[in-house]
Amino acid sequence: METKLLYQPLDKIEADAVAVVLFEEEPAPAELKFASAWLDEMRASGEFSSKTDELSVLHQPSGLRAKRLVVVGGGKRASFDLRRATGGVVRALKQRGVKSLAWWLNGADPEAAVEGAMLGNFEPDQYKTADQGKSLESFVAVAATNGADLDAAFERGRILAESQNFTREMVNEPANRLTPTVLADRARAMAAECGLECEVLDQDRMRQLGMGALLGVAQGSSEPPALIIVGYTPRATPKSSDHLALVGKGVTFDTGGVSIKPAEGMEKMKYDMAGGAAVLGAMRAISKLKPSIRVTAFVPAVENMVGARAQRPGDIVKSLDGKTVEVLNTDAEGRLILIDAITYAKRQGCTHLVDAATLTGAIVVALGHVNIGAFTNDEALLGRVMAAARAEGEKMWHMPLDDDYKELLKSAFADLANIGGRWGGAVSAAWFLREFAGDTPWVHLDIAGTAWLDDAKPYMAKGPTGVCVRTFTKLATGW
Ligand code: BES
Ligand code: MN
Ligand code: ZN
Repeated sequence: METKLLYQPLDKIEADAVAVVLFEEEPAPAELKFASAWLDEMRASGEFSSKTDELSVLHQPSGLRAKRLVVVGGGKRASFDLRRATGGVVRALKQRGVKSLAWWLNGADPEAAVEGAMLGNFEPDQYKTADQGKSLESFVAVAATNGADLDAAFERGRILAESQNFTREMVNEPANRLTPTVLADRARAMAAECGLECEVLDQDRMRQLGMGALLGVAQGSSEPPALIIVGYTPRATPKSSDHLALVGKGVTFDTGGVSIKPAEGMEKMKYDMAGGAAVLGAMRAISKLKPSIRVTAFVPAVENMVGARAQRPGDIVKSLDGKTVEVLNTDAEGRLILIDAITYAKRQGCTHLVDAATLTGAIVVALGHVNIGAFTNDEALLGRVMAAARAEGEKMWHMPLDDDYKELLKSAFADLANIGGRWGGAVSAAWFLREFAGDTPWVHLDIAGTAWLDDAKPYMAKGPTGVCVRTFTKLATGW
């Protein structure tokens, strides 16, 4: 889709449709005076009352060059979400065959506008050969007056949404097409295109290093694992010596292993690399927005399979850190691969760790599909992550990590067990990671409930959401 920011009065805009937001309890903007009879009548009849998600179309509006005037309900101004509004309008109008949409900003933020439009236009339909959905070809945000700030904001929005869609496309790939090796290839190609460093540790190298926890998960698959490392170094000498690690779970398919999952819904487990894809998408955006902090992404990529060589419940593995782990359940594999990546990130000199992982079903029970579960050993770092999330419209909820939960991970035969029992499952999983983060400031984001939409939203297609890409990028650019 082509995107542009233009400076024009409303009546000069040429497009299949021009959209204008109307708020509850506010008069329509003066520029819509020519359509006041139409608006009054719709309001009187109750057909349009400016509530969120309402939309009305006037064809051949007499005062405009655009072919359609679309009025969009914004609800109350204080709770208006522009990203969702543009996303919703794009999705509604492309269905009706509209190819070019102009959005009259009327003072609103062009960044959120273009993000919403690009995210709404994304469809995970690349494997449909017959009936791919209709899509928008052009989105123009229209501002009243020129401004370098507006141009920069628009460009930022374009980069963020493009990167988020890059992530969504990878998450949507089925596991037969996206193996750990293919994920590594995609990371390498992205890094080369964006001027980022990229290194991939293979199985032999991981063996030499002693990444027993990661390798234990990988050994049940005929697809070799990969530890993908993508690095960004600022050009100018950075203000601080901080080095941010973004660690993303990259399980390209999770059968559960020998502790196998039920058949029902297992197909969804192709999204178990959503954390890994999110950190790669963030690195893509970071390469273009050039923050002044060093950032390195670590994606442990494996397939969790059943096979003659698969690890068994009761197996004891030795992690890179040296601690031993009793694998009581082979389906708790995410934490096993993450601890070796976290230890490796620390050894590479990273001073701050943030991980994203589709780690537990328990977080979905706790928070549903709305909030990311956020855990930390460092309130200050969590504060930064939450502020970035808020600015980017991604919701997260601070979850507890009291010492009382730690004992859930006791093992009779090793330093730690990889599961903590039925209750508080998201917390014990986070505690497991924390044991390896140690004293390094660390935030864990459990995105099992938020990385995938089981049902389409008005503003977003069913399937991968690309959650965390914007938050991670904002975290780096605002450091
Ligand atoms: N990838 C899953 C987490 C998951 C489960 C995401 C269901 C979305 C829906 C993870 O590897 C897993 O299997 N976790 C187990 C842990 C348990 C064995 C302690 C879970 O949550 O059931
Ligand atoms: Mn699992
Ligand atoms: Zn998993």
